[in-house]
Amino acid sequence: MQCDFSLPPECTLRKAVPHDIWLIIFVVFRARLDPSQLRWQQFWIIECDGRLIAFGQLRKFHSAQELGSLFVAPAWRNRGLGTFLVQHLIAQATQPLYLKCLKPGLAEFYRRRGFVPVTFKDLPLSLKPKFQLSQLRKSLLKAFVLFMKYQDPG
Ligand SMILES: CC(C)(COP(=O)(O)OP(=O)(O)OC[C@H]1O[C@@H](n2cnc3c(N)ncnc32)[C@H](O)[C@@H]1OP(=O)(O)O)[C@@H](O)C(=O)NCCC(=O)NCCS
Repeated sequence: MQCDFSLPPECTLRKAVPHDIWLIIFVVFRARLDPSQLRWQQFWIIECDGRLIAFGQLRKFHSAQELGSLFVAPAWRNRGLGTFLVQHLIAQATQPLYLKCLKPGLAEFYRRRGFVPVTFKDLPLSLKPKFQLSQLRKSLLKAFVLFMKYQDPG
């Protein structure tokens, strides 16, 4: 996917280091994001003047990865940072890349960034145990749940 956006000059992208994990955990719980695999080694961070303003991670599964924990601080939203992180995580992924989306608006966000819907049946075996509960909510409670896979346009 083409990336024609560069970070503002005061912002930098870096891999997370061990001490970042406490702030990540705090934000993940406060924003009610999926709290699984909060391992600092899997996170990428954008910081501005030394302050963490955005992050995202690639969760590990057998023969698959999941893009998750995507967060941009409210004051920094709608300036391209979320897209920049998604594109970076896509570029870093070494296995087929999936995600789970619980809001229609976010599904559109990811669709525009190269992800396509897939059925539960078509998920890799290693992801099914984790996504099983969401699938139940979808089929029993008719909750909005969309599984998506990154499709390389090339
Ligand atoms: C979703 C999120 C990461 C986007 O970050 P961002 O830096 O604002 O994203 P960008 O500036 O690159 O792009 C803005 C896009 O996000 C969309 N967007 C902004 N807020 C949104 C929201 N609450 N829900 C859905 N989409 C949203 C905009 O419509 C825009 O989409 P478009 O460019 O396709 O028209 C950010 O809103 C966020 O941190 N939300 C809270 C945490 C969250 O929901 N994370 C996703 C977990 S799967």
